[in-house]
Amino acid sequence: MTAFKSETLQPNSAGFDRASVILRAGGLVGFPTETVYGLGADARNDRAVAAIFDAKERPVFNPLIVHVASVEEAQRYVHWPDQAKLLASPFWPGPLTLVLPLRAGSGLSHLVTAGLSTLAIRVPAHTVARSLLERFGGPVAAPSANPSGRISPTEAGHVLAGLDGRIDAVIDGGACDVGLESTIIGFDPVPTLLRPGGLPVEAIEAVLDAPVARHTSSDPLNAPGQMSSHYAPDAPIRLNATNHNEDEVLLGFGVMDCDLNLSATGDLTEAAANLFRHLHTLDAGRATSIAVAPIPEFALGRAINDRLRRAAAPRP
Ligand code: TXA
Ligand code: MG
Repeated sequence: MTAFKSETLQPNSAGFDRASVILRAGGLVGFPTETVYGLGADARNDRAVAAIFDAKERPVFNPLIVHVASVEEAQRYVHWPDQAKLLASPFWPGPLTLVLPLRAGSGLSHLVTAGLSTLAIRVPAHTVARSLLERFGGPVAAPSANPSGRISPTEAGHVLAGLDGRIDAVIDGGACDVGLESTIIGFDPVPTLLRPGGLPVEAIEAVLDAPVARHTSSDPLNAPGQMSSHYAPDAPIRLNATNHNEDEVLLGFGVMDCDLNLSATGDLTEAAANLFRHLHTLDAGRATSIAVAPIPEFALGRAINDRLRRAAAPRP
């Protein structure tokens, strides 16, 4: 018996045509964005969206982000407070997701929003994601293309390592530049950080000229993605490691003696781009235990530490 294999598509005209045909037929396509690889489905097709939850074994109460080609297209699905306009104009396309009130008659599958009255939406910047959205011509629901709870993919090979045979295809667009998921901002009614990510919150505060509220509720429905164990490699993780135990591999930051370094020069942008890739590498190398050096808590360091804390959290 031959196992079903997912197709690997090239980021060219034939590849975008094939991916678009698959999406129209209700299939699943992995594709690169500037943040991480997404697992895309037609956001208007209930069965296609259900297949995303199935392939990832994702809990159905955890809603998805819809990806669209432009601000104009986003306006068809959500209402726009002034502060959302203020953020979309400098930061879209880019690694920012806005959670906004869903318009009545949006035509989107209710599974996308998990029945909430808000929708998470973004316009990605990656040329492959943009070409796919243009070719397909509709809204694409896409969570990160990893099995639920595991490390997010920043290369096509990571997508196949986790989901080969469970999805129809992946477009191989090389490594993602940012390497961390988008920053998520909600408005309820003040701008609130729901997930730190690839756009530093400091940049958002500079545009709003006001501090962004931090999410405090422990209600996982209001702060999805805040599920405590997430991004987890097989090996246990120890954070803020200043020493190197014998049974551990050390993931470093800055000038130090270590097995893999997030950024030898202490550059947070480089560290973000390397984080999931290095975790995948250490996991594939069957590390028994991973120690991680301290990462400063500002700019992209906030998002890196957020992912590391979840990777280190007790597993269910
Ligand atoms: O960079 C990214 O955001 C990537 C790429 C593929 O776009 N996508 C991504 O999707 O990270 P995912 O599903 O792994 O994370 C989306 C997060 C989840 O934590 C989900 O709970 C939250 O967004 N979310 C979705 N809809 C929401 C809503 N209406 N209100 C609050 N949070 C929402
Ligand atoms: Mg994810």
